This record gives sequence, structure tokens and C-alpha cells, in this order.
Amino acid sequence: MFLFRHNKPIDLSGFTDCHSHILPGVDDGVQKLSDSLQILGRYEELGIREVVFTPHVMADVPNTTEGLRARFEAFRGEYKGGIKLHLAAEYMLDTLFLQRLADGDLLTHGDGNRVLVETSYLQPPSGLNDIFFNIQTSGYEIILAHPERYMYMEMSEYDKLRDKGIMLQMNLGSLAGMYGTSVQKRALHLLKGGYYSMAGSDIHNPRMISHYLEVKLDAACEKAFAAIREVSI
Ligand SMILES: [Fe+2]
Repeated sequence: MFLFRHNKPIDLSGFTDCHSHILPGVDDGVQKLSDSLQILGRYEELGIREVVFTPHVMADVPNTTEGLRARFEAFRGEYKGGIKLHLAAEYMLDTLFLQRLADGDLLTHGDGNRVLVETSYLQPPSGLNDIFFNIQTSGYEIILAHPERYMYMEMSEYDKLRDKGIMLQMNLGSLAGMYGTSVQKRALHLLKGGYYSMAGSDIHNPRMISHYLEVKLDAACEKAFAAIREVSI
């Protein structure tokens, strides 16, 4: 008798997508309204329940809070489906972010005080720990986007982040191997270890959905993903 490992396709029913670039025409994500609506239509078929739009905000993409709010409200007027939509942002930890932080001018997840941040994939900004401290003492909780993608991080760094109370957000594409094998391995390790507080697609175009659906999880990862699938915003 043979024993087979039955990895199952990822179950996205009830999923809260905490990180996405679906709001059209504001960053390097979706450009056309029709593509945004196509993604949300597919999401509905998959049973995805809530989506947070998190457009880039960085020195090179200086979206304003008011501008994004206006675009979001206009989009809500176009979307007739049943998915609950939220607006936040993905902030690069650069000088523009520090200015917005000082001004208290940040788009947070839901009604809370959680701010989604990212760094370069190759190197941290100087004084990263001081920046984290600054954010927290300013009254915000930190969600670090796709930590598995930061190749400059030692594995021990993830424990330190967790000890600081920083929440970690996994990308579905990391599990799918979209960013390479080493990122995929890190994501599986962190998922299994219970490091993640939430997950997101980080979707930039409709074609990415097919990659997410290729993800197959073993029993341990399936259980770990179920624990972060339906976070409340
Ligand atoms: Fe992103």
C-alpha cells in the first residue's frame, strides 16, 4: 500500500484580501476599471468576502490621502457586487512616509490604526527599527507587507518583528512561487510557524488570480492558512 500526501488546493472562501492593487489607475497595479471589475467578479465566484485596496504611496508614487479617497468613492459607485471593500494604502518606508506619519495623514486598515508598510526587497531603510518605534509610539500598529520577500532579513529577524508586536502579512503569490523558490520556502516556513497575522493577494492584474489557484497546501499549512483567512478589518 502506498501512502500519498494529499495536498489540497487553497480555499479562498471567506477570505479577506488585506493587500491589493485593484483601485484602477493610481499605481503600477490595475489600470482599467473593467479589469478591476473583472477581478472582483472572479473573487465573488471564489467566495472572497472582503478586500482592502492598498495603493502604493511612496516618493515615486505620491498618492495623496484625499486623492485616493475620492478615487475609492468613485469606484464604489461603479461596483455593484457583494464584496465588502475597504481603502487603506501600502506605504514605502521612505521620507514621504515619515512626513505623512508626522502629519498624522495615513490611510489605515478599516476603522483601526493599522498601517501597512513595505521596504525595498534588497535592503532596509537606514534606521528601520527606529522607524518602527516611531510608528508605534505615534499610535499606530504596524502590518509589514510580504516579509517573506525581504531577502536582506535573516530568519531570526521574523522572531524579533513578532516580539515587537509587528503583524506580518503573507502574499498568496509567495506560496505560488511567483517570486522564486527561496521566497516560497520562507512563506511556507512562516505560515507553518504561525508567524502571519493576515494574508493578501498583492494583485496587480487579473492574470495573477490563476497563479493563486495553483497553490496547494498540506494539512499543516491548510490549518495555518484557515486561521488567517477571515481576519476582520
Ligand atoms: Fe503591494
